[in-house]
Amino acid sequence: MPLKVVILAAGKGTRMKSSMPKVLHRIAHKPMVEHVVDAASSLGAQKTVLVVGHGADQVRATVTREVDYVEQTEQLGTGHAVQQALPLLDPDDTVLVAYGDVPLTKPETFKQLIDDVTDSNIALLTVILNDPTGYGRIVRNAAGEVQAIVEQKDASEEQLKITEGNTGILAARASALNELLGRIDNNNAQGEFYLTDIFELAVSQGMTITTHQPEHEWETAGVNSRLQMAELERIYQLSQADKLMTAGVTLRDPARIDVRGNLTVGQDSIIDVNCVFEGDVTIGENVSIGPNCSISNATIADGTVIKANTVIEESSVGESCTIGPFARLRPGAELAEQAHIGNFVEIKKSTISKGSKVNHLSYVGDSTVGENVNIGAGTITCNYDGANKHQTIIEDGVFIGSCTQLVAPVTVGKNAVIGAGSTITREVAADQLAFTRAPLKTVENWPRPKKNK
Ligand code: UD1
Ligand code: CA
Repeated sequence: MPLKVVILAAGKGTRMKSSMPKVLHRIAHKPMVEHVVDAASSLGAQKTVLVVGHGADQVRATVTREVDYVEQTEQLGTGHAVQQALPLLDPDDTVLVAYGDVPLTKPETFKQLIDDVTDSNIALLTVILNDPTGYGRIVRNAAGEVQAIVEQKDASEEQLKITEGNTGILAARASALNELLGRIDNNNAQGEFYLTDIFELAVSQGMTITTHQPEHEWETAGVNSRLQMAELERIYQLSQADKLMTAGVTLRDPARIDVRGNLTVGQDSIIDVNCVFEGDVTIGENVSIGPNCSISNATIADGTVIKANTVIEESSVGESCTIGPFARLRPGAELAEQAHIGNFVEIKKSTISKGSKVNHLSYVGDSTVGENVNIGAGTITCNYDGANKHQTIIEDGVFIGSCTQLVAPVTVGKNAVIGAGSTITREVAADQLAFTRAPLKTVENWPRPKKNK
């Protein structure tokens, strides 16, 4: 039966104290609701329906995957919310109900429920809690069969002692949901149409309820406050750290790494504390990353050493390079193997070929740098004339003296040498020495200024 996923995301999230709807707040830099949408997609859902209400336009504008939307203009309860999605479903569909503010449920956990659904069975995710306060309680008969769910506010003394709580996550046939939701009312303590009321109705007409529990309690944790969101962020990050360590990566402290995207790291690489990885980052084997590095959308090949406080964005780094400390690779930096980029060096949209070095205090932008080039400290490619960007080409074996300005467009030919402190405004041919330098003047017995009294 085709799988369709309904995600409830209409709530405001008053306790977030935010102008943004709750489900758009982020875990690992991804809106919470998108974690759920991604899980639905990994389950092969044929359709995902977001039930939106508060901040509906913002949700529509933010979610990137192709999903359907239904608007629940008044939040009359979870049962009412699911009902809004039913017109978009076919009776034969298997429907998974999930929540935009419960971001970390694993697809495997959802899958267990989906697999249980038949025309006469509903599958429910429950959780045993030390403190079930606030949760709907799972009422079972002597034989252990689910009979009903009672909400906290409607529960008797006896029922409040039940420690098995309702996560709200369930899977059922669309036809069953349609029929059962058509019969619920709002005669309860909160005056809401409870989704949970379908269970008692289902049982009374001979249907069965199967239950599963998640592997981890946090899979069912919802976010109502920024504190709870921060707690889930740490749980998520720790699980990312676990995955990396299992794959053979050393983390100096698994509590001090942040992965906000897809990070792949090869065996025997070492990551020091406080590194942040964003977007798609692929790191090879035996790579060493120092503390406080920020790396986004980049590939780093085997054996490279990245020292402390380096920032890398949209760049690729070859094997056995050395980068940093305090280096910045901006979009379009492409380093071949054994390149060295040192402290306070910025590289943008430039190719640095094998074995070339830019070790100190330099800016290289819109440039092609050949092999075994040495760029001296304080060298600047003047790539911008105030209106347009221009290219600098530095061929193999060139030596550029310290504090050189290369005014683009300009080419320095193979094995040429530039004297320190030069401003190069036209082509330097292969094997030439070029320098621009005012003659050295001296004044004898120069009277040094004296400090005023
Ligand atoms: C619900 C369950 C409860 C369960 C708990 C788990 C019901 C009646 N109760 O209670 O058994 O233990 O979740 O957290 O289902 N929402 C809408 N539209 C609405 C109402 C809610 O989109 O009209 C969304 C909310 O934004 C929220 C989610 O559904 O994301 C749950 O709603 P909430 O009112 O928080 O339910 P609880 O009272 O926590
Ligand atoms: Ca809730």
